[in-house]
Amino acid sequence: MSDATKPLRSTAWFGRTDKDGFIHRSWMRNQGLPGDVFDGRPVIGICNTWSELTPCNAHMRELAERVKRGVWEAGGLPLEFPVMSTGETNLRPTAMLFRNLVSMDVEESIRGNPVDGVVLMCGCDKTTPALVMGAASCDIPAIVVSGGPMLNGKFRGKDIGSGTDVWRFSEAVKAGTMSQEEFSEAESCMSRSAGHCMTMGTASTMAGMVEALGLTLPHNAAIPAVDSRRKVLAHMSGRRIVEMVREDLVLSKILKREAFENAIRVNGALGGSTNAVIHLLAIAGRIGVPMTLDDWDRVGRNTPTLVDIMPSGRFLMEDFYYAGGVPAVVRALAEHNLLHRDALTVTGISIAENCKDAANWNEQVIRPITRPLVEQGGIAVLRGNLAPGGAVLKPSAASPHLMQHKGRAVVFSTIEHYYERIADPTLDIDENSVMVLQNCGPMGYPGMAEVGNMGLPAKVLAKGITDMVRISDARMSGTAYGTVVLHVCPEAAAGGPLALVRDGDMIELDVAARRLHLDVSDEELERRRKQWQPLLPAQNGGYQQMYIQHVMQASEGADLDFLVGRRGTIVTRESH
Ligand code: FES
Repeated sequence: MSDATKPLRSTAWFGRTDKDGFIHRSWMRNQGLPGDVFDGRPVIGICNTWSELTPCNAHMRELAERVKRGVWEAGGLPLEFPVMSTGETNLRPTAMLFRNLVSMDVEESIRGNPVDGVVLMCGCDKTTPALVMGAASCDIPAIVVSGGPMLNGKFRGKDIGSGTDVWRFSEAVKAGTMSQEEFSEAESCMSRSAGHCMTMGTASTMAGMVEALGLTLPHNAAIPAVDSRRKVLAHMSGRRIVEMVREDLVLSKILKREAFENAIRVNGALGGSTNAVIHLLAIAGRIGVPMTLDDWDRVGRNTPTLVDIMPSGRFLMEDFYYAGGVPAVVRALAEHNLLHRDALTVTGISIAENCKDAANWNEQVIRPITRPLVEQGGIAVLRGNLAPGGAVLKPSAASPHLMQHKGRAVVFSTIEHYYERIADPTLDIDENSVMVLQNCGPMGYPGMAEVGNMGLPAKVLAKGITDMVRISDARMSGTAYGTVVLHVCPEAAAGGPLALVRDGDMIELDVAARRLHLDVSDEELERRRKQWQPLLPAQNGGYQQMYIQHVMQASEGADLDFLVGRRGTIVTRESH
């Protein structure tokens, strides 16, 4: 029986002696479960995003078996269930379109079923925020087990990183410094084990974020997918979730403002993805912690980037694990008062206590705070007449010489327009131009595609130039790099000033001053606004139509407006 004073919600299904109790137990017994597993023990849902169409998560059924061992050992009943899985590499038009749909699947699967606590099996980018958002709306005991990163890519004697080196190689092919044969050979050398991207892309970032939020056991983020210690972590997480149910350690006891501020700081120290901004705002919205875009700048601004990982640095997640992983980073930040030390975690103790003995075994990979990779890491939140609702830029992935820049706009009205124009050798563009992409925000794309890091024109690349200022309402893969201003709010499709930019307009970027300015008079902008026509995607019904009608702006987490908040686990009707 449970030690919790609160009755377990699963007893409303399995603890009854009437017809409904018969139905709930009898059908479950067709799986070979003995009768005494319905004796009031905690029922643990294992929410799995396993899918062969999501290669980053394809190994997670085996990992779930390890979780089950732990649950059984601790006296719980593990029941695995699938939810929609979103893989970045296959799902079109963009996995982000479906993050909120997955979160609905998770929330309703938890609420509608006899589960007392959940283990969230996450991996590829959106699967982590989606599962946490759904569980947060239920406010149930939950622990995250990530699938873990792939081993380092190896190509011709060198380490290569997921995504980051794809961008690099494809630019090299365009510039004529890499052959098509070499490009094809690299393909099999990059993804050589189970797991998600092993750069500090969005998957690794979000695995780091849930560890920093206190939702995982220590080291969850960095243990490689195929390292036996990942199985141990899964096993131990299974044991721990049973105890968490008994302690009634629900998500809202962990996901306080302090936890989010810790995650923002850890993101800065990791050189994490800009996508974390949107996902953390959405999670905060679900659990009911008021967070804004400006919290990212205010809290994260003085955080040094310590971890030297691609795309900001040189190493990869495997190296990061061997160097000490997130616990070593947490300890360094805590010792320099850059963390809320007392923030509670799933272990039942504080984050600082969890990491007090964490060692840094390699100061090349995890730099000491006195010798950081980037002094001022974090995410810069920019404002100005071009982004009155804010925009973001990742300084650690940008070029120092472009952080203050004024240039002539070259405008692409859609991503298709970009592909069409950029291939034109007569396009009037050089390295000082500012590339502007419109209509790729949450409503406009829809789903907010990861296309903000538009490839440079071939004639600029041929000069050996590798970066230009790029501005859009789109997102960027966490594995990408460059002086890229993203998430411009309001987006063009919603009538934001971004929609009014024309070829030849001057744009000023000043990251230190957090300024993004379109050098066009208010009168002229007003004149253009009167002529402006929204360019919305076709609404053919279904989920996509609901999404366009209800999605909020990136500065609010791009959640659907009616999903914000905590709805708990009370079911509206109890019988069949
Ligand atoms: Fe899945 Fe990068 S594609 S984590």
